[in-house]
Amino acid sequence: MPRIYLETYGCQMNVADSELMLGVLAAQGYVQSGVPEGADVILLNTCAVRDNAEQRVVGRMGELQRHKFPGSIMGVVGCMAQRLGPILLEQVPAVDLVVGPDGYRNLPELLRHAQGGERVSDVEYRSWEHYEDVPQVRESGPTAFVTVQRGCDYQCTFCIVPTTRGPERSRQLVDVVRETRQLVERGVSEVTLLGQTVNSWQEGSEDFADLLRAVGAIEGVRRIRFTSPYPTDFTPRVIEAMATTAAVCEHVHLPVQSGSNAVLKRMRRRYTRERYLEVVAALRQAIPGITLSTDIIVGFPGETEEQFRETLGMVMEAGFDDAYTFKYSVREGTPAERIAEHVPDEVASERLQRLIDAARLQTRQRNAVRVGQVHEVLVERPAKRGHLMLARTRQNFLVLVDVPRDSVGAYRRVRLTGTTGSTFTGALEHGSLVVI
Ligand code: SAH
Ligand code: F3S
Repeated sequence: MPRIYLETYGCQMNVADSELMLGVLAAQGYVQSGVPEGADVILLNTCAVRDNAEQRVVGRMGELQRHKFPGSIMGVVGCMAQRLGPILLEQVPAVDLVVGPDGYRNLPELLRHAQGGERVSDVEYRSWEHYEDVPQVRESGPTAFVTVQRGCDYQCTFCIVPTTRGPERSRQLVDVVRETRQLVERGVSEVTLLGQTVNSWQEGSEDFADLLRAVGAIEGVRRIRFTSPYPTDFTPRVIEAMATTAAVCEHVHLPVQSGSNAVLKRMRRRYTRERYLEVVAALRQAIPGITLSTDIIVGFPGETEEQFRETLGMVMEAGFDDAYTFKYSVREGTPAERIAEHVPDEVASERLQRLIDAARLQTRQRNAVRVGQVHEVLVERPAKRGHLMLARTRQNFLVLVDVPRDSVGAYRRVRLTGTTGSTFTGALEHGSLVVI
């Protein structure tokens, strides 16, 4: 049986897409290999959101090409493949195959051509594509990603995603529900709904509030997460559905990007600092204890020291529990490429460090006061080191707990006993075992 080795970079959507590709190829008799040695097909599922993400892939292609043998194929798929298309074939001789996010259905045929000695690419946009009939190959476990929306129609000026993933399309509610039901049958109790602006999901008159309610009504779904929502798509209806659907977890990842109105405008984000804070306030009021994480970019063209300080202030004012921080990376063909006022790299690096320090300090402080609290955790998997298991609270805190290995998938009540600042240790609260 032919063997496929697949590496995934970037966001959760890529993880979900890799599961799709494994499904497409499994139907052709491919089996997954954990190592590149001897693999008939090596695929890299790539990210194009920042230059360093692409550079990592370039480096990895160099390393992996030594595992090629006559007749074997190395393919680049995903966002970087879509962005560069056939240019990748020209620039990297070891690459035989280039396929964008809407072309995975054609992988078997493209592979046949490649195995016949052709070098092939498929970077067509197919705005109807949802891969509805493709059964994914997923790792077993209690959590799963469910894609509910592909592509993006927002035009944030820094972002390559609308180019790499094409136009936005929502998947039908019945299909999302059917897939979730199947997951529950296989032991999944927590689903994360995926989309680039996931809370703008819509099907006719039904909106994201209806989707949350429909998924929340499925028996066996105990936790719902979603990523990433767009701040201004949190309508009162959506917030109400979150507050009243028991399974929806008390955590939201809410990318803010900047705390300066001038920068937000140049980024073409659809909100001001004030509007963003209103959304935060509405979420906090409706969902007690909700935690917030965010994405922030520093060094966007024209960002002044003063504007950067507004971003620093935003970290505290919004009360983020966690922040993913990035140095702006210019992406070819995006509108921001044409904004002339480049921020020097040393300045951007220095701002990034200050932001990281401020965000970390805040995470630490917020977590320190949580020690002693009791939370329900879902045991997800063994921790990387030692014998402890990794579990997660509804508010998205990671907790190391001393429970048997066969507790994966179980819900337990734990008391948080300590924190490293970012993760926690926890002890079982006896006599309060939670049955799934
Ligand atoms: N809609 C998606 C965005 C995907 S990109 C979501 O909300 O998850 C993920 C994050 O990468 C963005 O939120 C942004 O903070 C960051 N990012 C996107 N383009 C970038 C760029 N050109 N330079 C630096 N960071 C970028
Ligand atoms: Fe990118 Fe903005 Fe869409 S960050 S993915 S263009 S919402």
